Amino acid sequence: MQSDQVLNIILVGFMASGKSSVSRALSRRCGWPRVDADDEIVSRAGKPIADIFRDSGEDAFRELERSVVSDICGEKGRIIAAGGGSFIDDESRRTMLDGGTVFYLSARPETIHRRVTRGNPNAPARPLLGAGNPLEKIKELLDQRTPVYSQAHHAVETDGLTPDQVAQAVLKICGPVIA
Ligand code: S3P
Repeated sequence: MQSDQVLNIILVGFMASGKSSVSRALSRRCGWPRVDADDEIVSRAGKPIADIFRDSGEDAFRELERSVVSDICGEKGRIIAAGGGSFIDDESRRTMLDGGTVFYLSARPETIHRRVTRGNPNAPARPLLGAGNPLEKIKELLDQRTPVYSQAHHAVETDGLTPDQVAQAVLKICGPVIA
């Protein structure tokens, strides 16, 4: 795949919408390297995301996230899996919309709930879902965030699809631009 027409393919969407697994499938299919923004944050901070939230709070996490998003969107020819809240941040959103073709991977709240609680029904690992009823929290956050996610260049519904099927849908949209 030539990388001079689409700068980067950037995947955004709620936690467990499949961004990381779809980014792997896309990278396999089109040969571009993948970058996971959350992994980069963990590596720079030297600790897991839950510990960053616990020790320094969400504002500090978002600040680190902004700088990671800015650095990875400055590259070209990458498949970028963004963290679920990064596109909600005004500065990171502008960086992503300018830095590539942004795909919103959508999923119903029940699908997200099933994915985040798989094998771990009582204690979701994501800090933002840690307190209270996770399904209610997912619905509340999705209601707030959906209008912002909808500012992505394209949207792909992921319910009932495998990561490879979602990757195919993304490449079908990119195809004429990438070819
Ligand atoms: C967050 C999503 C997480 C991670 C952090 C905050 C969010 O990423 O960046 O826990 O605000 O939705 P994933 O979408 O990869 O789970």
